[in-house]
Amino acid sequence: MTNILLIGFMGVGKGTISREIVKQSGVIALDTDDIIESMEHCKIKKIFEEKGEAYFRDLERRVAIWLSHSVRDTLIATGGGFYKVPNLNLIGTVVYLYSDFDALYERILNHPNAKSKLKKRPLFNDVDKAKALFDMRAPEYERVADIVVDVRHKDAQKIAKEIIKKAMK
Ligand code: S3P
Repeated sequence: MTNILLIGFMGVGKGTISREIVKQSGVIALDTDDIIESMEHCKIKKIFEEKGEAYFRDLERRVAIWLSHSVRDTLIATGGGFYKVPNLNLIGTVVYLYSDFDALYERILNHPNAKSKLKKRPLFNDVDKAKALFDMRAPEYERVADIVVDVRHKDAQKIAKEIIKKAMK
């Protein structure tokens, strides 16, 4: 198996779906936001506040280089902006999790941990800006994806099964 990258907008369920794929297949999984927090010994929210977004994007590019050189046979959940790294398709098979904006927004707001979910996602603090970002990114996600999985009206188990079938060879 090559690496599999899960890309898509904040709140689409990349983490939840990754955990479900692990459960069903036993694959080892990483998360680019977790890697960045470990590298910096600092939470994403604080990195954005203290160092700014450009600094965070630079860390994403460094993680991407490390992944493409050093990681194999792994499932990689990514932050919503990670798809922009220049070597994305060299890392592995790119799976875009698609949902519409309203469903994503609902999913974050209705989560029992909504407050902490929003903390990690400063770009979601202003809903109009988040919607504009979604509209701008949606075609870009599609452009870089090898496989598109529509996650609307499906539970994590079903989505995981679909990804295992389509992307894990
Ligand atoms: C971001 C998404 C976040 C996190 C950071 C930036 C983005 O990850 O990487 O707040 O640019 O969309 P999730 O997609 O896991 O929320």
